[in-house]
Amino acid sequence: MIPTTSYSRDRCVTGVHGLDEILKGGIPYGSTVLASGTCGSGKTTLGMEFLVRGALAGEACAHFTATEPSVKLLENIRQFQFFDMQMVDTGLINVFDMDVLYSWLGMQKTSFELEDVHALIKSITDIVNTIGVTRLVIDSVTTLCYKIRSEQLIRDFLFTLGKKLATLGCTTILISEITSASENALWSSFGVEEAIADGIIVLGDIERMGHLLRYIQVVKMRGTGHSRAKYAFELTPLGVMMTPMLKWGSVKGQ
Ligand SMILES: Nc1ncnc2c1ncn2[C@@H]1O[C@H](COP(=O)(O)OP(=O)(O)O)[C@@H](O)[C@H]1O
Ligand SMILES: [Mg+2]
Repeated sequence: MIPTTSYSRDRCVTGVHGLDEILKGGIPYGSTVLASGTCGSGKTTLGMEFLVRGALAGEACAHFTATEPSVKLLENIRQFQFFDMQMVDTGLINVFDMDVLYSWLGMQKTSFELEDVHALIKSITDIVNTIGVTRLVIDSVTTLCYKIRSEQLIRDFLFTLGKKLATLGCTTILISEITSASENALWSSFGVEEAIADGIIVLGDIERMGHLLRYIQVVKMRGTGHSRAKYAFELTPLGVMMTPMLKWGSVKGQ
């Protein structure tokens, strides 16, 4: 007999405007979500707002920054009204500079070998476990791979990272840098990142009458039904704002 009771998995309610509605309640708790986008598409801002909304609800958050130094990241993000530097000062949002982490680990080298890759994953998971992080952002997984020369080692690193993240219990946004978010584009640089992700969110640009409009689209999210439409994605001083693309009347079939 088919059971009639429905099972609903606990959600990480992101608190980001529009996103929880698109995801019918939030990201299934403990998922690893790839946020893929081109340069300037809003990945870092989305990731940081995800942490801020969690910190406001009392969650322990961590942001590992590899694309830019933490000083620069915080300098840029503090322009947004949703961000409060006190969250960092009081340890609700823990920002880790990957370059500092590399120097703690004695990994200031031009290329990483197998033991470095394992030390890196161990150090990230130790930090997450020690602080009891429930929201994690790695910005970006693409940059983490730059010092790993061999493709095989990159694949091993990503699969091991994915397996570790799956056991940590925290909800993770793995930021992925791509050069194009067009229909035929890949969601990652190495083609493995999407395989370790439970969800994929794409951030891109659409040109309309001389303006570059930002859009966001949830391509995949295990454990929940969700809209697969493109939504206009705006970065406002108060944070992210999402509206259905149809408002512009120019994106058909979405
Ligand atoms: N204070 C601000 N208010 C609104 N938008 C901003 C503000 N500061 C930066 N931006 C926009 O955010 C973009 C960068 O977003 P970011 O999240 O860093 O992108 P990514 O990480 O994908 O490269 C800038 O190009 C600019 O358009
Ligand atoms: Mg960025």
